[in-house]
Amino acid sequence: MTNAFEGRVALVTGAGSGIGAATARLLAERGATVVVTDLDGARARQVAADIEQAGGLAWSEVLDVADGAAWAALAATIDERAGRIDVVVNNAFTLTVAPAHEQDEATWHRQLDVDLTSVYRSVRTFIGALRASRGNVVNVSSVHATVAFPGHPAYAAAKGGMLALTRQLAVEYGPQVRVNTVLPGPIHTPVWDGADEAYLDLTRRSVPAARLGTAREVATAIAFLAGDDASYISGASLVVDGGFTAQKDPR
Ligand SMILES: NC(=O)c1ccc[n+]([C@@H]2O[C@H](COP(=O)([O-])OP(=O)(O)OC[C@H]3O[C@@H](n4cnc5c(N)ncnc54)[C@H](O)[C@@H]3O)[C@@H](O)[C@H]2O)c1
Repeated sequence: MTNAFEGRVALVTGAGSGIGAATARLLAERGATVVVTDLDGARARQVAADIEQAGGLAWSEVLDVADGAAWAALAATIDERAGRIDVVVNNAFTLTVAPAHEQDEATWHRQLDVDLTSVYRSVRTFIGALRASRGNVVNVSSVHATVAFPGHPAYAAAKGGMLALTRQLAVEYGPQVRVNTVLPGPIHTPVWDGADEAYLDLTRRSVPAARLGTAREVATAIAFLAGDDASYISGASLVVDGGFTAQKDPR
């Protein structure tokens, strides 16, 4: 265990589950004070409690990333409790699976709002504090940003938009603030709980790594980008997909 994040404050959205929870735990293990946020307050509380139980520093807050006023309130709380912020991990997401013509406008907008506009809100809220700390932002996109799967039009548009927005923000806010993205492939989190064994098997066989990734494996990539080892990396997209998108044709 290193203490690379000692004295730093990290905010993770959607941190009550999966990749967000693993990221919160890893950053805390490495010394960060982690603000564990989620739409689901009970989940966020549990993750923060687990971190504290393990000897780390964390507290939880309810945050709907689609709610601008909630972002402002959170900034005030963080300023009061910690007086700084060094890392923002935009990880929360929502997804409705259906072709575009079967998604009504409200469903479409909600996905863009949670999955993409949330990144704008995070920067609008925290850019002053991030400039002051020479901090950074890590956005959690998806392989859906670069390859299409049926039934994911708004999700793919949002995740693809995240790559463009990451580049834009990196250019806009350097040299003080770095902004990067990770693109996970299939990662074994609760989103896969409903998948039947045949589909899981097909997915495993379609990945050169021959398995789903773990939330921890994405968290380590996020922690790398958020840490000083990535000090010359900004505007970058790091694929964490076991080789899935490197293939011309899935196996
Ligand atoms: N699991 C995968 O296979 C996979 C693949 C590619 C990309 N991703 C990306 O990884 C990220 C995390 O996914 P996961 O698999 O860990 O999901 P998960 O469902 O385990 O966790 C997502 C969390 O986000 C929270 N959330 C939902 N809406 C929210 C909102 N409006 N505001 C705040 N929190 C909200 C949920 O309550 C949940 O705790 C997402 O951005 C997802 O697109 C996941």
